Amino acid sequence: MLSPQLIEEKEHNPLILIVDDIEAHAELMEAFLIREGYNVQATTNAQEAIRFTKNLSPDLAILDVMMPGMNGYDLCKSLKSLSGRKFFPIILLTGLDQLENKITGIEAGADDFFSKPFNSIELTTKIRSLIKLKRLQDELDHSEDIILTLAVAIEAKDPYTKGHSERVSNLSKKLAIFIGLSQAESITIKKAATLHDIGKIGLKEDILHKRVPLQKNELELIRRHPIIGEDICKPLHSLKQILPGIRYHHERWDGRGYPDRLKGEDIPIIARIISVIDSFDVIVSERPYRRSYSINAAINLMNTEKSSGQWDPWLVEKFITMIENDPLVHKGE
Ligand SMILES: [Fe+2]
Repeated sequence: MLSPQLIEEKEHNPLILIVDDIEAHAELMEAFLIREGYNVQATTNAQEAIRFTKNLSPDLAILDVMMPGMNGYDLCKSLKSLSGRKFFPIILLTGLDQLENKITGIEAGADDFFSKPFNSIELTTKIRSLIKLKRLQDELDHSEDIILTLAVAIEAKDPYTKGHSERVSNLSKKLAIFIGLSQAESITIKKAATLHDIGKIGLKEDILHKRVPLQKNELELIRRHPIIGEDICKPLHSLKQILPGIRYHHERWDGRGYPDRLKGEDIPIIARIISVIDSFDVIVSERPYRRSYSINAAINLMNTEKSSGQWDPWLVEKFITMIENDPLVHKGE
């Protein structure tokens, strides 16, 4: 844990981690960066660098490539995977000015590559721009987290929808991978599925749970939730790719859905996946007006109805195969 004082200092003076097996080199770099106004943590040891990264969350790392034991490339990979989806800029320093070393560095995830002796102005310019990028990225992650938390908080108020988004998001991601979409696409689908109903934020619960047929104006209100959801997420550039998943998750394969009455493959795959999983989760969950279906009963129902025009029939078949291959797939992460 960072002390309040270090957190405050880090706000103003970013913390840079230096790793160089030659102590004199690490000290020189440290002195140079302190003069430039940075906080610095230097070490000659890769394992210690990993510990510092875990405990101090530096804003940037400068790694020497040629080190005994774990070299700079491997350390770079370890530090990048430690930081997960958070952006953690890393600069590699080396005496080798060959293209293949740069390629290895880029493959290890490095954000830039400087050959010794380096130009100090060039290096500080690069450090400044990478740290600026990191700050922007952190702010963006923060805004995204707020929206994702909000989505979970909204449905947690209601016993019938509690956990719905999380279940739909986990299972949508699994179906995306099952049909051969990439890891990156499956992550986008997971996010979209978490937020698919965020547009219900303004709807009263008595409308959402009404047993008797809805009035025309109530139906219109409900049918606006994909558009409202899209409007909520639109300002966040990082969520741009998920917008079709939110807007079109109530479109139907036969073109009788809402809000745009898209048909067949005009409906983006991200929305077709959410539509299938959303329906499945509703069928297996209890509702005020009926008890939940068992998994088998839900699968039988979807199998019978797969060509009814609601969903992409090919996708429903894939979904059923996925569940049959692994009956516990709908549980957990
Ligand atoms: Fe919805």
